[in-house]
Amino acid sequence: MDQLLLPGKETWIPCANHKQVAACIKHMNVRGAPAIGCVAAYGLALAAQEKKFSSTQALITYLNSAKATLAATRPTAVNLFWALERMKGFFSGDSVKEIQETLEREAINIFEEDLAANRRMGELGAELFPQNAVILTHCNTGSLATSGWGTALGVIRTAYEQGKVKKVLVDETRPYLQGARLTAWELKKDGIPYELITDNMAAHMMKTEKVDAAIVGSDRISAQGDVANKIGTYGVAVLCKYHNIPFYAAAPTSTIDLKMSEGRNIPIEERSVKEVTHIRGSAIAPAGTVARHPAFDVTPRELVTAIITEKGVARPPSAASIAALFQTHAPKQAALAAI
Ligand code: MRU
Repeated sequence: MDQLLLPGKETWIPCANHKQVAACIKHMNVRGAPAIGCVAAYGLALAAQEKKFSSTQALITYLNSAKATLAATRPTAVNLFWALERMKGFFSGDSVKEIQETLEREAINIFEEDLAANRRMGELGAELFPQNAVILTHCNTGSLATSGWGTALGVIRTAYEQGKVKKVLVDETRPYLQGARLTAWELKKDGIPYELITDNMAAHMMKTEKVDAAIVGSDRISAQGDVANKIGTYGVAVLCKYHNIPFYAAAPTSTIDLKMSEGRNIPIEERSVKEVTHIRGSAIAPAGTVARHPAFDVTPRELVTAIITEKGVARPPSAASIAALFQTHAPKQAALAAI
């Protein structure tokens, strides 16, 4: 679905080749870390089928070039590179047909595993909310940003199904307005009560009203538990610390980059400043204004109460609690809480 046109129009973009897929990721017609990973995997499955190949070698050469094209779209969401590397593990076989079929199956596996991970995070995360909870969230982390259900919004959805959510405070999420355009759209469809606030209202709401928790998704989590997410997330975490409100991140383990020890080394995408100086094509600043647009920030692990994954809850986030998630029989929340 073309997320640039939401909430006004629900239009689907059919992609017949990997270059169209790459363009959709780059221009944010599709966005959200897990969704980017799933879509990129399908992009490679498409690349294998989008023309005739005379040999397996010709196909593999083409796949490597398609992989590079897809990898060059957005730098921060590690799910993109995770999915591309996982697909590359299947760039071999006895025939062109076999490779084509294996890649298609693997893309479907990635999609289905992400959906299952979302559901599991929902169950684990909902346990952390009190009854009658007012939950603040930032950016869009729902069905649009994943294979379905969502990460942070998936936790909110599950908690709502359990009757635990009174309302959701939705940060509009300047400058791209993922909260106003996408999260509000998803919550409205589901009939979950929400109130839209501008990002600069969050502190006031925390001070003057009941806010029980904030929960966000992530584009990349370092091996020690630092959380890269949509610009503005760090500010929410700082506010939570001051107001003594738990701050949670929900993300599948495909978002954890074990090769990235420190969050400060996570590459931060700088997008066009026109996305700051203009809204939907209309200038909101004088012509020639110098602006900045870092699209993500990194919340240090000290500010994160817990990271909810499909394999357990790392609480508090640390090298040890993150590493424990990757053990074959990962201990559940209670054991991790003690680490
Ligand atoms: O620039 P975007 O819209 O792709 O950024 C999305 C986010 O920051 C989300 O919070 C993150 O990808 C987690 S989505 C489940």
